[in-house]
Amino acid sequence: AGSIEIDLTKIAEGQQLKTLWRGKPVFVRHRTAKEIAEAEAVPLSDLKDPATDDSRLVANPEGKVDPKYLVMVGVCTHFGCVPVGEAGDFDGWYCPCHGSHYDTSGRIRKGPAPTNMAIPPYAFISDTVIKVG
Ligand code: FES
Repeated sequence: AGSIEIDLTKIAEGQQLKTLWRGKPVFVRHRTAKEIAEAEAVPLSDLKDPATDDSRLVANPEGKVDPKYLVMVGVCTHFGCVPVGEAGDFDGWYCPCHGSHYDTSGRIRKGPAPTNMAIPPYAFISDTVIKVG
């Protein structure tokens, strides 16, 4: 099938689920309050690929954005390596291939990657389950 369902309740705070969607890694991170605060505090002027943290999230069935869950295609936008979580200079992800640092919103902050890690198409099918694809 072209889509996958992910139960968010299975991911503890501070943990990341890594799964595959159409052959690509997808990261679902249950962010800590500190990670969320860091992501929200960054001025857009500090970003190479400017995007607010909110703009990288999807609303639940009530129309609310829950900043706890960040869902991304876990592929470095430089040459496609898979970044390592909880690493790098910005508490987010680090790509060891050529040294790209991503923040806790998956936005590129330092190194050769040109853009933020991508957000796959996904939607909440209940308060706690998302469908990717
Ligand atoms: Fe990630 Fe080059 S592929 S920095």
